[in-house]
Amino acid sequence: MRQSTECTAPRSPLPFLVALSHAIRPNPFYVLGFRVIIPAPVNGSIRGRQAPPRPPRAWVEVNLAAVAENARTVARVAGTRLLPVVKANAYGVGAVAVSKALEALDPWGYGVATLEEGAELRAAGITRPVVVFMPGQPALFPEFERFRLTPALGDAAAIAEWTGRGTRPFHLEIDTGMGRSGVRWDEIDAVRAAANTPALEGCYTQFHSADRRDGSAELQLERFERALARLERRPTVLHVANSAAALANRRFAFDLVRPGVFLYGGSPGEGFPEPRPVVSLRARVLTVRRVAAGESVSYNASWRAARTTTVATLGIGYADGVRRAVGLSGCGAVLLGEDGRRCPIIGAVTMDLMMVDTGDRPARVGDVATLIGEGDGEGKRERISLEEFSAWSGELQRAVLTSLGPRLPRIYD
Ligand SMILES: Cc1ncc(COP(=O)(O)O)c(C=O)c1O
Repeated sequence: MRQSTECTAPRSPLPFLVALSHAIRPNPFYVLGFRVIIPAPVNGSIRGRQAPPRPPRAWVEVNLAAVAENARTVARVAGTRLLPVVKANAYGVGAVAVSKALEALDPWGYGVATLEEGAELRAAGITRPVVVFMPGQPALFPEFERFRLTPALGDAAAIAEWTGRGTRPFHLEIDTGMGRSGVRWDEIDAVRAAANTPALEGCYTQFHSADRRDGSAELQLERFERALARLERRPTVLHVANSAAALANRRFAFDLVRPGVFLYGGSPGEGFPEPRPVVSLRARVLTVRRVAAGESVSYNASWRAARTTTVATLGIGYADGVRRAVGLSGCGAVLLGEDGRRCPIIGAVTMDLMMVDTGDRPARVGDVATLIGEGDGEGKRERISLEEFSAWSGELQRAVLTSLGPRLPRIYD
């Protein structure tokens, strides 16, 4: 059980000014009046977009200009064209909004993981190549043709099935050490005859540890090049680099790079350029209570007050993608209210709600708490980075982003 004294954030010396600012300022939702509110797609669909009828209890703000700037950074560092990875609804950020924002950068195409994700881009008017990075299933090939999607293939039978249907392109995946899909680099001869076709547009591999700079990407690259040399023809585009590899060394750049997490504000690791933050996660205070010393908060009485304090309950929970661990780590915090003060997250995060300790400072129903991003309102002094929040969650930044649930509207700046 956590005590309220662990990992306590420094408290502002100006509680009365804060109270005053709450008293004289309305707690409006006007910020949203300037933005486009798009309910997050449910089941991968964005059809039926409409503004929520009232201010949401919790939401995700997305800075599309920052996505575009991060994409420009990758393209500049790598010195080549982009195949932005917008799978999993662009890591939860919004695939259609992101792809449309990136059109201005003239990417070669887009990468998705499923047929449905590709179809969604087509429905939104994206006409560039869309590569589906998932072992291609022949049963789905008619749908691939219908939406002009490019399958990723890794065995001779699937290649023969695809090329037997017509001349549409495919990309050959070569497994150089990831051990999950594609033809193994040392078994490339098995696809040599089938891949000897003008439909072979691209060849690629995926690095397992490019962020670690441990030499494994170089070894995988060597295997990739050895396998390529055994093919009858060089396809038009070769691509091997995820965000980390694209930013690490131009020898990984080839014809295209495939950044994902960096576009969405995720840091690829130490020693890499920092992306511009893209995502802010916010929730409103829905109820406030005083909790006496010794009383508990949340399931399993997972937090107990060391002294009498104020507890604010936020309208966001693990069903929205906030891990239970954020509250159990004893280190998680939110930025609360107009001054953006840090308040510790206390007790296990519950399905729809989570609690924060505001100490002796007032909190009001309707106040905005920031879980990721810069504090809302005037007190934009503090920021909780995606990296920090992910560490409290015990998760990868990618996992935190892709877990942000469909109940959270996405608001695009
Ligand atoms: C085939 C492929 N390329 C590129 C990426 C993007 O990787 P990252 O998010 O590390 O940039 C992924 C992500 O998992 C992927 O599966």
